[in-house]
Amino acid sequence: MKDRVRAIAPATVANIGPGFDVLGLALDGPYDQVEAERTEDGLVTLVDITGDDGALPRSAQDNCVGAAAQAVLTTFGGPGAGVRLWLHKGLPPGSGLGSSAASSVAAAVATAAVICPEVAAPGLLDATREGERLATGSPHPDNVAPSLLGGLVACVVREQGRVEALSLPVAEGLVIVTASPEMQIPTEESRAVMPDRYGLEDVVANMSRVAGLVSGFASGDLDRIGSCLQDRLATPYRKELIPGFESVMQAAMEAGAVGGGISGAGPTLFAVTDARRKGAAVGAAMVEAFAAVGLPSVARVSPIDARGARLVGPDWTPGD
Ligand code: HSE
Repeated sequence: MKDRVRAIAPATVANIGPGFDVLGLALDGPYDQVEAERTEDGLVTLVDITGDDGALPRSAQDNCVGAAAQAVLTTFGGPGAGVRLWLHKGLPPGSGLGSSAASSVAAAVATAAVICPEVAAPGLLDATREGERLATGSPHPDNVAPSLLGGLVACVVREQGRVEALSLPVAEGLVIVTASPEMQIPTEESRAVMPDRYGLEDVVANMSRVAGLVSGFASGDLDRIGSCLQDRLATPYRKELIPGFESVMQAAMEAGAVGGGISGAGPTLFAVTDARRKGAAVGAAMVEAFAAVGLPSVARVSPIDARGARLVGPDWTPGD
């Protein structure tokens, strides 16, 4: 067992249109990094955070990395086991790319590596959800699960709120374009605009599209993916929080995307396409459409990260 390690965890697109709180996929960048060092003081200590411009809570008790690491210690640590943590942010917080999830996952994986290396990634899912609970007020699993396991993941709800994460097949060559406008929407706020109850027709529409989407990702049938991304549970309410939603999505389609929607709780919007070059054009079109409503934004073109969170060497750089 090593005394000090570094873990990375990828950004994610949660929901993927109709799969609210159920579906998520991992993006090949950006990544958060957490270093963990084993101690014998029984404590979780957050030593430093870089890359967040001072925005995130500095104490381990108030930061999702502390909550995730504490959950690993509580579940798997022996007497006196403790950990010191360093968080290096690569993801923009509050953007809808699963920033708190990536931090929580990197913290859980790094902590497990110095405390209980025998525990495999799926065994850390509950601990990562504790980080999400602290950061967003809800332990939804659809960011942490794909960030932990990589690829496309379905979060299957079991008894008493337990969740089983199922890795689903994904065809080669799909590209996800994200455009993140310069604004933040706290997940809590984005969840608060949704109704408590839904009509049967809306629920059935979403369930049918989730089934179609899973089939489309497995076969790589872009048209099927595109036709199954529409969402009737969250998007009709959340789009009001994102200036330019309709025009940005339309610009993405005109530039070659097959469909898209809100990434997680937003405000990042995502689009699906199949070639890096087309991806760049889609990203540029989305940025231009956001600019037209006065919002600067950053586009990223990412393949799906099939590997998920992992330990890396001290010299790791994005792209490795
Ligand atoms: N499923 C969650 C939501 C993801 O949409 O609120 C948050 O990133």
